[in-house]
Amino acid sequence: MTACADMVVRPCAAVRGILRVPGDKSISHRAAMLGALAEGETVIEGFLESDDCLGTLNAMAALGAPWERRGGRIAIRGVGGRPAPPSGPLDLGNSGTGLRLLAGIAAGQPFVTEFTGDASLRSRPMGRIKEPLERMGAGVELLGPGGTAPLLVRGGALTGIRYRLPVASAQVKSCVLLAGLFARGPTTVEEPRRTRDHTERLLEAMGVGVRREGDAITVEGAGPRRPRLAPAARAVPGDFSSAAFWMAAAAAREGCEVRVEGVGLNPGRTAFLEVLRRMGAEVNVAAARGADSEWEPRGDVTVRGGRLDGTEVGGDEIPNLIDELPLVAVLGAMAAGRTVIRDAAELRVKESDRIRAMAAGLAAFGVPVEETPDGMIVSAPAVLRGGGEVHSRGDHRVAMALAVLALAADAPVRVRDVACVDTSYPGFWDDLERLRG
Ligand code: S3P
Repeated sequence: MTACADMVVRPCAAVRGILRVPGDKSISHRAAMLGALAEGETVIEGFLESDDCLGTLNAMAALGAPWERRGGRIAIRGVGGRPAPPSGPLDLGNSGTGLRLLAGIAAGQPFVTEFTGDASLRSRPMGRIKEPLERMGAGVELLGPGGTAPLLVRGGALTGIRYRLPVASAQVKSCVLLAGLFARGPTTVEEPRRTRDHTERLLEAMGVGVRREGDAITVEGAGPRRPRLAPAARAVPGDFSSAAFWMAAAAAREGCEVRVEGVGLNPGRTAFLEVLRRMGAEVNVAAARGADSEWEPRGDVTVRGGRLDGTEVGGDEIPNLIDELPLVAVLGAMAAGRTVIRDAAELRVKESDRIRAMAAGLAAFGVPVEETPDGMIVSAPAVLRGGGEVHSRGDHRVAMALAVLALAADAPVRVRDVACVDTSYPGFWDDLERLRG
């Protein structure tokens, strides 16, 4: 089934089944970038061929690292630490990860790179990467209104810095660490709260030393020598954030059971499992063994549904389930008592303002919901009212989260503008049909 502009989601009594979800988006972006920087060929299995990650592969090709599909895998010919100047602007589409990480790499190159993206990406804050990259010696010009893309990165000789992140962001951390690979001396990033460590893990797997001391992460820069990354064959696990839609779909209703196999279980990504357990869902995790799991942990997750209670989510947990927060709101709409999300103002600068988009979506189902500056408070309505329409606001995770809620409504719901789903989860609608049995 191809995603059209709108999708009508019919309710169903239960979701049941076993499935695998497409590859992890965060890891696929990083594998595309670091594979392109490596010496020789990197072959990636399970690469997420979504609009976002293909955009990053194409951007790396424009920097001199061509890629091809080979028997279900992606093969990238690396540039050996020396990207070539691109002949035009790099368009990263909808992807904040693509743009922010690649800007870090561009900062270390002896040329100017222009970056742009779609309307959503051009509305997102880029001052957060400009500041550290300029402290390292690059020039970053934000050409959009209020510190947004398009942006010009004037790369050059960088000097390592020690940088405390003003917001807990894996994208900004990774941007600075990737720039640090090209800098003279060490670069250290301090995190106010721990974020996903996919960049650090892949660098280590490719032979680059990464030091962790408390909340500080350090890489040694190669300076004028150029960094050396060893290519490797890697298998990307399924995306935990994609799997989470089905965990949520199963968790809140009796008679539901979903098992997602081969899904990534990086400890920086799995706080949603704790939230499910706290709310009363039955969650079983079977960790896989093997070399791939030592690089990025993975395994099978089974969720069996039942009556849920509301919960509070905030503090250190937030970066660990930042992309699952729309689903916490969805679960709140099906749980007894109140569900409170706080300390999550970052949600307002994602692919959409996810607090506003989810509050509006939930309200259309008759869900009592109160927006707060940094989150929301959600309760279950007496009846989860279908029959209307909700809008994705062009945001893939909003579209999918509201589709999951629609499965439990009392009548079909039209989800408007769902083409965005292809940025992270091609095949989502087919999987939804299969699980409804
Ligand atoms: C990502 C980090 C998070 C997350 C995004 C992917 C990454 O963003 O929301 O979907 O791959 O590093 P922030 O770093 O902006 O919090």
